[in-house]
Amino acid sequence: MIPAHVGYIMDGNGRWAERRGLPRSAGYAEGLKAMLRVLRRTEERGVRVATVYAFSSENFARPEEESSAIADVVERWNRSYDGGWKVTYMGELSRFSERLRESVALVVGRTAENEGLRLNIALGYGGREDIVNAARRAAAKGEIDSASFENCLSSAGLPPLDLIVRSGGEKRLSGFMLYEAAYSELYFTDALWPDMTEEDVDDALGEFARRTRKFGA
Ligand code: IPE
Ligand code: IPE
Ligand code: MG
Repeated sequence: MIPAHVGYIMDGNGRWAERRGLPRSAGYAEGLKAMLRVLRRTEERGVRVATVYAFSSENFARPEEESSAIADVVERWNRSYDGGWKVTYMGELSRFSERLRESVALVVGRTAENEGLRLNIALGYGGREDIVNAARRAAAKGEIDSASFENCLSSAGLPPLDLIVRSGGEKRLSGFMLYEAAYSELYFTDALWPDMTEEDVDDALGEFARRTRKFGA
């Protein structure tokens, strides 16, 4: 079984740089390369949708120079990407600069008709915030049931999040897709994100294929 939708919690970029005596920002530039490598393999293996956790709501608490280093990497990629993936974003983009938001509009517009991997980027995203926002939107519409509620989440329209892969050794979700993760399979690896290879993707998908999913039944 190949998961319909994989979430990647791309952790360990800062440590990767620190271990080399480099500034943490070097870890984000390298992290982008790893992201592209991982996503290419993910697509090759037949996964249709991937969500990558690039910056959490809580990450705004980091030093300004670190958040802007991450935003720069994202912005430059948005402006240059011209491949076949369909790119979308979720999260509080209003908390980023106008320039970053412009670059998001550009890449989302430019790739809207693409039929390759659906690449959903969680930026300024927090699962608790997303649930609260969805509750607010659902309440404004009237009667709430699970289908109408799910339609108000940022992930509306995406297939079920079958698998979450977290690099960097920590075994937690850190706010990633809390509602959607209810029955996701979880895969943790000690590899720091910039060290992630095609083989790590194969290992995660292999492990997923061996899991027995019961959904409570
Ligand atoms: C994760 O990498 C990416 C972001 C939070 C933007 P980290 O920056 O958390 O890297 P570590 O965990 O400190 O190594
Ligand atoms: C989770 O990593 C967020 C992203 C990968 C974007 P963190 O490094 O922010 O998570 P904690 O603080 O270790 O839980
Ligand atoms: Mg971290």
